[in-house]
Amino acid sequence: MKKIAVFTSGGDAPGMNACIRAVVRTAIHEGLEVVGIMRGYQGMVEGDLVPMAKHSVSNIINQGGTILRSARSEDFRTAAGRRRAYENLQRSGIDGVVAIGGDGTFTGASVFMSEYPDVKFVGCPGTIDNDLYGTDFTIGYDTAINTAMEAIDKIKDTANAHDRLFFIEVMGRDAGFIALSTGIATGAEAILVPETSTSLDDLIHTLEDGYQHKKNASIVIVAEGDDAGGAFQIAEAVKKRFSHYEIKVSILGHMQRGGSPTCMERVRASRMGMAAVQALLDGKFGVMIGIVNNEILHTPFDQAIKHHLDLNPEMLRMVEILS
Ligand code: F6P
Repeated sequence: MKKIAVFTSGGDAPGMNACIRAVVRTAIHEGLEVVGIMRGYQGMVEGDLVPMAKHSVSNIINQGGTILRSARSEDFRTAAGRRRAYENLQRSGIDGVVAIGGDGTFTGASVFMSEYPDVKFVGCPGTIDNDLYGTDFTIGYDTAINTAMEAIDKIKDTANAHDRLFFIEVMGRDAGFIALSTGIATGAEAILVPETSTSLDDLIHTLEDGYQHKKNASIVIVAEGDDAGGAFQIAEAVKKRFSHYEIKVSILGHMQRGGSPTCMERVRASRMGMAAVQALLDGKFGVMIGIVNNEILHTPFDQAIKHHLDLNPEMLRMVEILS
């Protein structure tokens, strides 16, 4: 292997820059040439490649977003688009690729490798959702939960001042990890997540119980993918049956995706980026790099995509007991 490429794809996540930096600097350290592909698979289809040197990644470890930018590419879903992408990689002499993204990114890499086996892919898990099998932490998750926690703490201050019930929606289209961690960390009365079916009766019972125990305000964390709907919809349904507090809704939204990565984020993302280049050099292809029990793990793409990471039931119980 002489020349590799790195790109970021799907929803951006804080720590992606730290991972890019590690890939670029490890590759150069190992005597490889390295290029960045702009805007994920779309840049691969369009041939939007930029040569990377050591200094190209200076002063980015602390920055949110991704210097390579990101996209969700429709062109790459077509065979013709992938053909163009392959021709661009071939023309540039690229035989190894580090893909930083989520399950959509690894699905794309799997399909591409089955059509063009001479280009080798290794993945790094980049998504704030923490929903990938084969790693304890995805790049972006730690920062996102800290950002959300700080925002929820602030909302709690005003909720207490006005005796209000807040429904706070956090990100997580298919997964409740952000809701679960931030719910525990902020002492929320309840969390509603896509992994478990939401019962309005149970929720109202919990809120009623809190009111009877002299809580003057309450917080419910709703993952955006909850089966009962979004925070506005759930708040409307609760309003009809529970009138002890004034009810407000707050959607945290994309603020959770930005910001300077936490220390752990930078360290983990750097470890994963280094390990990805090492995997390419060791001939371990078609795998996602993960960190499990503080050790680097290689999980084949098909497993990382197929298996869903479950929420820890003990942590779900914690919310009920501790609130
Ligand atoms: O997958 C990460 C994520 O932030 C999800 O939690 C969220 O549902 C989605 O991306 C939002 O994507 P977009 O920025 O394209 O609206």
